[in-house]
Amino acid sequence: MTSTQEPARHWELRRRPHGYPVPDDVALVDTAAPEPGPGEVLVRNHYLSVDPYMRGRMNDAKSYAAAYELDQPMHGGAVGEVIQSRDDTVPVGSFVQHGLGWRTQAVLRGRHAVVVDPAAAPLASYLGVLGMPGLTAWVGLYDIGELRPGQTVWVSAATGAVGSLAGQLARLAGCRVVGSAGGPDKCRHAVEQLGYDACVDHRAGDLEGQLAAVLPDGLDLYFDNVGGDHLRAAIALANPFARLVECGMISAYNEAAPPVDNLFQIVGKKLTVRGFIVSDWAHRQPLFAAHVSRLLREGQVRDDSTVVEGIDATFDALLALLRGGAHTGKLVVDVRAG
Ligand SMILES: NC(=O)c1ccc[n+]([C@@H]2O[C@H](COP(=O)([O-])OP(=O)(O)OC[C@H]3O[C@@H](n4cnc5c(N)ncnc54)[C@H](OP(=O)(O)O)[C@@H]3O)[C@@H](O)[C@H]2O)c1
Repeated sequence: MTSTQEPARHWELRRRPHGYPVPDDVALVDTAAPEPGPGEVLVRNHYLSVDPYMRGRMNDAKSYAAAYELDQPMHGGAVGEVIQSRDDTVPVGSFVQHGLGWRTQAVLRGRHAVVVDPAAAPLASYLGVLGMPGLTAWVGLYDIGELRPGQTVWVSAATGAVGSLAGQLARLAGCRVVGSAGGPDKCRHAVEQLGYDACVDHRAGDLEGQLAAVLPDGLDLYFDNVGGDHLRAAIALANPFARLVECGMISAYNEAAPPVDNLFQIVGKKLTVRGFIVSDWAHRQPLFAAHVSRLLREGQVRDDSTVVEGIDATFDALLALLRGGAHTGKLVVDVRAG
């Protein structure tokens, strides 16, 4: 066992936000270096994940993910290096993925750490294309969406962590793939870097009209990351028997989303609308990891990510996700920098 005298820092939730979170809702706290007990490891985090579901954890409401406790360290996905170990199965020098993010150092039970291989993929990829968002895209398309070659697919939040892989996988399956994203730069990125056939800017207005122009034959599969006006447009443009994959509804996480007032069309068009939560699909992890690792090795999919530097930047990074910032792909924080 080696020792560390490095000071540690973590984020705490101070009060529950109303609407979009503001800086006074959270605090960055300095602490003494934590010490692992028997069966535990001390991890120096390298990358922290910021994810839309974290906004829901700030509410005191029953959900699929437990609420953050006030004045306690927040948590989330992270990857880092084991620098002290009292678990022989996870020695010092191992790189691990775990659930104690929002901090520079984490003490956790060795059996709660998933050892990852930094030689096989960049460490941050285990939070993105090879991690939870990647599995979400994969399960959403294949298991929930029952994707078939030749279909017309629309992916919203097309350049985000989930959307960027969903769009690329649909294209590889031989589908015509349309995206929607916020702003012309993201739309250009979607087409030029991710291979979308077209991308519409949802911030430019008349979302449904823009989509109708690029979906002249309607759509067979909608991968919904946004809800609200996007879901309404998908129902309006769906072909008979289309599938709507309800992955997320980020437009409703901080404010009331525009109403979806055309649900009656689900009946006449015989649509399948199915929600899912990725944690129910852990059994698909091995097949997903093998498939997407191979596609990455072969250069068939792009590992899209944006890195911001320093633990101080974590809260602003979460806000950028919730409001839509300039980032593309998986947004992670490099806590060793800054
Ligand atoms: N079901 C599950 O198990 C599961 C697992 C992971 C994630 N999710 C969901 O999947 C979705 C994407 O997650 P992610 O991690 O990949 O995040 P992300 O797409 O990387 O980031 C969120 C993006 O949503 C867009 N957005 C925010 N507010 C919007 C609004 N009002 N209208 C339209 N777009 C808006 C922004 O992109 P633009 O700048 O392009 O607008 C923002 O960058 C989220 O809804 C999330 O909750 C679900």
